[in-house]
Order: sequence, then structure tokens, then C-alpha cells
Amino acid sequence: MSGNSGQPSRICVLGGGGFLGSHLVEELIEKTAFEVEAVDTTFEKLAVSSKRLRVTQASIEDPGVIDSAVMANDILISTTALCNPALYNSQPIDVINANYTHLVPLVELCSKQSRWLIHYSTCEVYGKMSAADSAAMNEANSPMILGPVNKERWTYACAKQLLERLIWAYGKHAGLAFTIIRPFNVIGPRMDFIPGIDGEGVPRVLACFMKALLKREPLQLVEGGGNRRAFIYVKDFTQAVLEIIGNPGRCQGEILNIGNPANDVTISELAEKMVKVFQTRYKPQHEYRLQSVTAEEFYGPGYDDSEVRIPDIEKISKLLKWQPVTTLDQMLPTVIEDYFTRYASDISGWGGQ
Ligand code: UGA
Repeated sequence: MSGNSGQPSRICVLGGGGFLGSHLVEELIEKTAFEVEAVDTTFEKLAVSSKRLRVTQASIEDPGVIDSAVMANDILISTTALCNPALYNSQPIDVINANYTHLVPLVELCSKQSRWLIHYSTCEVYGKMSAADSAAMNEANSPMILGPVNKERWTYACAKQLLERLIWAYGKHAGLAFTIIRPFNVIGPRMDFIPGIDGEGVPRVLACFMKALLKREPLQLVEGGGNRRAFIYVKDFTQAVLEIIGNPGRCQGEILNIGNPANDVTISELAEKMVKVFQTRYKPQHEYRLQSVTAEEFYGPGYDDSEVRIPDIEKISKLLKWQPVTTLDQMLPTVIEDYFTRYASDISGWGGQ
């Protein structure tokens, strides 16, 4: 793959050490000719090295970091975020700053310096959808209804949505070349931390269930686990991003959902599938239970949720002839194996397995 000029060009992944960022950096190195810069505070998840890869250990809010990244690269991909729902009502100021304030200079500078900004937004911008009103979420037509301000869950969605609107405004009124990506529940190896081992607090559902499986605890279902999510495998997701990077003419000025509507399940179905895969693979002498908890018990006051979240992927499918291919049953064994390999030795009772 090459840049607009036909020559290999330079691409910077802000958050290149994170879950989505590290998978993208690896694929950029393996499948394209770009010179890649990865900016992040840590790089433990990045499992690639190359003469074409430069790592910059820094936080994007540190003075000069965004300026240097924009000046040195042709394409800027912003993946940094505070994106665990447990933070939205416990650290809302940090969430608003990380997802909006710290990225405003990036938008302004990309516009001024004529760089292509590919921004990872979120499916959460679509807001709150009830099970009774479960139309797939569409980039051009779906309303975006957030809960009231006292439901701090929506700080994240609101900050992300405002940044999208800023990017859109710079695109339409100041000539910014942009593409906004909305990931829908991407899962895969090296996702979130396990509380008490390499992080504190509550990660997203996959890591919550992995912690329960590894520690032989009940899998907790918030409000009974009836909410639905459609999960996409990280490799399918990253392939879509590579297609976007390779097709600037079709993708600049666009907002694109990336998800897998075929993998739509309730959270309790996800829990049952994970228990089954885990028991088959590791044969623990333990009978796992699924346990319902209230949202208030699990997340504290101010939490709220979307009951369903199904992506409409017609736009990206038509534009790029891209389709997600990995089923939940295909991806879960790989993801569970990854967590087991990384964490089991830190948890008593798994030695030697
Ligand atoms: C989160 C982020 O807010 C989004 O930005 C992001 O796009 C999305 O994850 C993602 O992974 O792509 P959400 O889907 O609510 O959104 O995240 P999870 O924490 O994974 O929760 C999914 C559902 O599982 C929620 O209904 C939650 O209440 C439930 N849950 C979570 C449980 O029932 N048990 C748990 O132990 C954890």
C-alpha cells in the first residue's frame, strides 16, 4: 500500500500501544509500506519491531507531542481514549478531557497542516437505544439520544460526539481531510486489564468475565444480562481500517460504522458461551454461576445503558467491499487462550496447566 502520491508515506498512530492501536500498528508494518510512528505511554501490547517503526513514549497531552506528530507524518490516526464504562461516572472529568479537550489541538493542527485525520470515535455516540426500538444504527439517519446530565454514563458519548462535530465542522468549513470511524464492541487478544493484576477498577465485559473465570468467581450480569451487543473480532476491524487507509478518495469526509451485526448476543448468552469454551479447554474443577447484580451495585450511581447496539454496516461494505467474517464461536477460543496465557500464572490454582 502507498500514500496519495504513490510513494510510501508516513503514518502516526496516537495510542499505538493500546488494544486497537497495537493491532493496527502491527498490521501496518506487516501489510503496508508506510513508515509508522506509534505514540503512547506504554508499549507492552506492541508485539512487533521493524526499521519502519518508530515508537515515541509520551502522552498526547504533554506539550509539543501532538505538534511533533502532526509535523512528522502525513496521516494521523487517533485511537487514544478513556473508554471503560466504569470510568464514565467515577472519573467524568478525566473522561471528558481525554476524549475531547486533549484532542482539540490535534483537529486544529491537522486542518492547518493539511493532514488526513482518521479518528476512532465510538458506537456510544448513538446513545441510548431500547430493546423495543432496535433498528440498526446508521451513520446518516439514526438519532443520537443521550440520557440526562445526572446520568454521568453519557459523559463519554457526549465528549466523543462533540469531537465528531468539531471534526465534521473543520471538514466542511475549513478543508480538513478526515474520516471518522465508529467501532462497535471490538474484542480480541490483549484487550482490557484484569483488575487486581495489571489494573484497578472495572474493565469491559470480556475482561470482567475472564477475571471471573480465572478466579473461579460468579460471572456478574448487570440487571440480568439482557442487554445486547454485537461483537466484532479485532482482526476484522483492523482489516477495515487498512482498507480505509488505502482508499482516501472514497473515505475522506465520511463517517463509517465498523462492526459485525451477525454477532449480536445478549450479555448472558456471551457469559454462557465463555463458560462453555473455558470449561472445554481448561477443565476447571469448578461449577461456574451467572449472578445478576443491579447496575448501581456494579457501577455505582449515575450509570445508565443502551439495551441494544447493532451496527448498520451497509455504507462501509458498499464503499470498500469489506465484510466482517469471524463468528463469536470462532473468536472466543483465541481470546480466552490469550487471557489464560497472560494471566493464569498470576492466579492461584492454575499452576502447570
Ligand atoms: C463500551 C464503551 O463505552 C464503548 O466506547 C466501546 O465502543 C465499547 O465498550 C466497545 O467495547 O466497543 P459497552 O458495550 O457498554 O461500551 O461496554 P462493556 O463494559 O463491555 O459492557 C457491555 C454490557 O455488558 C453492558 O450492558 C454492561 O452493563 C454489561 N456487563 C459488563 C455485565 O453484564 N457484566 C460485566 O461484568 C460487565
